[in-house]
Amino acid sequence: MEVAVDRCRCFTDGLVGFEIRAGGPITVTNLEMGPGLLTRAALHDEDLNMTLTEVTGLQTAASMATPDRRRSWAEPWKIKVVEPIRMMTREQRRQALATAAYNTFLLRSEEVYIDLLTDSGTSAMSDWQWAGMMMGDEAYAGSRNFYHLEEAVQHHYGYKYVVPTHQGRGAENLLSRMLIKPGDFVPGNMYFTTTRLHQELAGGTFVDVIVPEAHDPVAEVPFKGNVDLNVLEKLIQRVGADLVPYVCVAATVNMAGGQPVSMANMREVRELTRRHGIRIFLDATRAVENAYFIQQREAGYRERGVADILKEFCSYSDGCTMSGKKDSLVNIGGWLALNDPALYEEASNLVVVYEGLHTYGGMAGRDMEAMARGIVESVQDDHIRARVGQVEYLGQKLIKAGVPVVRPIGGHAVYLDARAFYPQIVQDQFPAQTLAALLYEDSGVRAMERGIVSAGRDSDTGEHHYPALELVRLTIPRRVYTQAHMDVTAESVVAVYHERPSARGLRMVYEPRYLRFFQARFSPL
Ligand SMILES: Cc1ncc(COP(=O)(O)O)c(C=O)c1O
Repeated sequence: MEVAVDRCRCFTDGLVGFEIRAGGPITVTNLEMGPGLLTRAALHDEDLNMTLTEVTGLQTAASMATPDRRRSWAEPWKIKVVEPIRMMTREQRRQALATAAYNTFLLRSEEVYIDLLTDSGTSAMSDWQWAGMMMGDEAYAGSRNFYHLEEAVQHHYGYKYVVPTHQGRGAENLLSRMLIKPGDFVPGNMYFTTTRLHQELAGGTFVDVIVPEAHDPVAEVPFKGNVDLNVLEKLIQRVGADLVPYVCVAATVNMAGGQPVSMANMREVRELTRRHGIRIFLDATRAVENAYFIQQREAGYRERGVADILKEFCSYSDGCTMSGKKDSLVNIGGWLALNDPALYEEASNLVVVYEGLHTYGGMAGRDMEAMARGIVESVQDDHIRARVGQVEYLGQKLIKAGVPVVRPIGGHAVYLDARAFYPQIVQDQFPAQTLAALLYEDSGVRAMERGIVSAGRDSDTGEHHYPALELVRLTIPRRVYTQAHMDVTAESVVAVYHERPSARGLRMVYEPRYLRFFQARFSPL
């Protein structure tokens, strides 16, 4: 088999097993080594000094290895290092839960058996990423790892300028401070906790412009993350384009159940905002997972690689904030990407105040290297198929057992519908918080609340926000758990579901001022 590669940059280890002939388009033969090595080669050659920008056929190389009609799939990796986990007794878990004041964020991780609290910073890194950690250039300024990261973001996300930050909210802080002024309105496809807080701290008001189906857990709609164009247009007409600094589009939408945005919708949002001279900033935290859903669900994208789809998707925005702790397969890191040189200049100055110099932004050189490599791995079709496939596996098990979950199953998590579990618990008594606590007590599986506690209070009235969705998120870390862990999780969820009539709610006994879901304390009613 031969794959034509336009321009190629190869690292010495990537050369093993490849025959590369320079001149014209380079031809790479002997593909048994798999597309991974080729992609690795992308970032790491100083020796050959050729740049891989357009790799014709590379994305398809992954699919070429895949039979047209798969009966099943398996993870495209094997396990090299393991970390023991233990299950405590039910009585020990009951005590741990009481000590943690019924907030799963306050449990010690040693007290957890299967940790589905979050997919943030919980990924297992590959051997290639760990090898990159040893190549950390810990210079204060101009670390070579920053340039690798910059190149990876430019190449895969397509933006011109990259400002590193310690994680996603660092980028949100910079963007909000630069663009939002008091009295502004920031439309978004459903709120995200840290994103909305930074918008509010900068004096803005978040306005939800997601399609109405997103608030309905059982509406089987392929792109429940879409922006409602009518609602957006009406908002702009009502307040005036001058008071809308940008539209914030999240892909996928975490609070809606990990639901994607379609390419068509993104294109339309671009068109609408162009008419009004308004920017779009993407929350690209899970944009690779979003690109996978576009490939699977949207007409015209089935034959295109996820990397290619991602780049087109990002091309309809003016920049992005990014938590690298999700898609990018690292334990820490993020970035702000921009296309406007003036904004970049401002951001690379502001980052010095809040994060660190513009060539490290709060990260060690080794962290930037791991993230650069994680980006390359994250856009490979076989990786993302297995990642989303595992979430789907758990979701389908629960659906078959009759458990109420948000449908369709999202990209990074399965969301339990706590309202349907516990109709006897009113929202002020925190049904989802209760469900997360009872699940932990049953089996040591740690999940998190995504309902009234996460929604927080209205900054003007001080009243609770009452979101339509009252959910518990079973979030699957990337490359960490096996299908057996999913089976154990499903069994426990089903057991808790069967015991639903006996559940009682909770009372909040301590409420922190910011992002209360992290540290709030509860007692049983
Ligand atoms: C959609 C989304 N945006 C932004 C963030 C914030 O990122 P970080 O936790 O890295 O600050 C998160 C993290 O959970 C997220 O899920």
